[in-house]
Amino acid sequence: MDASSNPYTPGAGRTPPALVGRTSELDAADLLMRRTQNGLTGRSLMLYGLRGVGKTVLLNEMRRRAEGHGWLTAMIEAKQDRQGAEQSRARLARELTAGARSVRTWRARATDKVKEALSTIESFSIKAGVGPVSGDLTIRAFGRADSGNIEMDLEDLVADVVPALREANIGMALFVDEIQDLDSATLTALLAAQHRAAQNDWPFYVFGAGLPVVPAVLAEARSYAERQFDYRNIDRLSPAEAQEALSGPAAAANVAFLPEALTRLLESARGYPYFLQVYGDQVWQCAAESPIQLIDAEVAITLGTGELDRSLFASRWERATPKQKQLMAAMAEDPGPSALPDLVSRMGKKKPADLSVFRDELIKKGLIYSPDRGILDFTVPLMADFIRRHADEV
Ligand SMILES: Nc1ncnc2c1ncn2[C@@H]1O[C@H](COP(=O)(O)OP(=O)(O)OP(=O)(O)O)[C@@H](O)[C@H]1O
Ligand SMILES: [Mg+2]
Repeated sequence: MDASSNPYTPGAGRTPPALVGRTSELDAADLLMRRTQNGLTGRSLMLYGLRGVGKTVLLNEMRRRAEGHGWLTAMIEAKQDRQGAEQSRARLARELTAGARSVRTWRARATDKVKEALSTIESFSIKAGVGPVSGDLTIRAFGRADSGNIEMDLEDLVADVVPALREANIGMALFVDEIQDLDSATLTALLAAQHRAAQNDWPFYVFGAGLPVVPAVLAEARSYAERQFDYRNIDRLSPAEAQEALSGPAAAANVAFLPEALTRLLESARGYPYFLQVYGDQVWQCAAESPIQLIDAEVAITLGTGELDRSLFASRWERATPKQKQLMAAMAEDPGPSALPDLVSRMGKKKPADLSVFRDELIKKGLIYSPDRGILDFTVPLMADFIRRHADEV
C-alpha cells in the first residue's frame, strides 16, 4: 500500500501513532503536574522494562506534557561508552540552557529570584563549557553551582532555580533515559538533589527510564531511592491493547485486516510494542490493498523477523564474547527465565561462582538481568528464540 501513508513507527524512540496502554503512567505524571500547579508536590516516575516496550516514547511524552505546563525541562540519554560526570554535566547544561531560553513567560517575570536562578544556570553551564543563557538579561555568574563538584553544583542549581519556578507554580524536571548507564557521580547527585527538594517541598523531579536493573541500581546509589520514585514496570501490551496498537492506526487510514491476518500478526508480536510496529510496517508494505490478507501477514512476519534479527538481536549478540555467548546459549534452552543451578550443570561447571564473571559482564552490557536471586533472563524480549534460530553460530 501507499508508503506515504504507512502509519507504523518501527525504531527506537519513534513516537507511535497511538500510545496505547500507558494511561495509568501518563495519568500519574499529569497528576504531579496539576499538583504542582496547586503549589503541592508529589513523586516522579521511574520507568523500567525490557528493550523495545516503549519506555523512551513514554518518557518523551511526559516531557512534552511537562513543557505544556510551562516547566523547565532537560532530557539526557546516558550511554555506556560515554560515561563520566563531565560529559553528563555538559549535556545537562546544554539542555538546561536551551530549556531556560524557552520558558519565556517565566523569564519575563524577571523578579530577583528569576534573575538569580538564570544566573545560577549560567554559571553551572559556563563551568561545563557551555555558552551563556542570557540574551536579553544581563546576568553575572557569581560563585554558585560552579565548584566543579556535581553534587554540590546540582544542589546550588536546584536551590536557586526551583523556588523561583515555584513562584509561578511551575516545576523543573530532568528526564534521564537509560538511567542505569548514568555515571555514578551524576546519579547520586541527582538523587540527592531530588531528596533535598522533597524535604523543602520544591517541585524538582527526576524522571527516569531504563532496563529492569534500574530499581536495584538506584537503591545501590542511595538507600532512600526506593521511596523516592513511583516505580513503574513498563510491560508488553495486553491482547486488547496490542490489537488496538496494530489495527487502530490502519483503521484511521481506512485499512482493515481480515481477522485471520490480524490474529497471526498479534501472535507473532506477542504484545511487544516494537514487534507490533515492525510487523505493522512490513504488512503495510506487503499488502496490495485493504483488507489485509493472511498471506500478507505471513510474508510480513518472515520479513519482519529478518528485520528484527538484524536490528534488535544480531548487534547485541555480536557484542558478546564467545564465553558470554555460551552462557546466553545455555539460557536460551529454557522457555523462560533460567535458574543458575541449571546453567551450571548445562555448561559443565561446578558451582554458580564459576559463571559469575560472565554473568556480571552480560548484566553490565545490558544483555541479561537477574529478576530474582539465582535467576537470569534476557533484557531483549524473544532473544532466546533468536539464539535458538542461530544455534549453529554458537
Ligand atoms: N504504547 C505503545 N503503543 C504502540 N507502539 C509503541 C508504544 N510504545 C512504543 N511503541 C513503539 O515501540 C518501539 C519501541 O519504543 P521505545 O524506543 O520507546 O522502547 P524502549 O522501551 O525505550 O526500548 P529500549 O529499551 O530499546 O530503549 C517504537 O517503534 C515505538 O514506536
Ligand atoms: Mg529507549
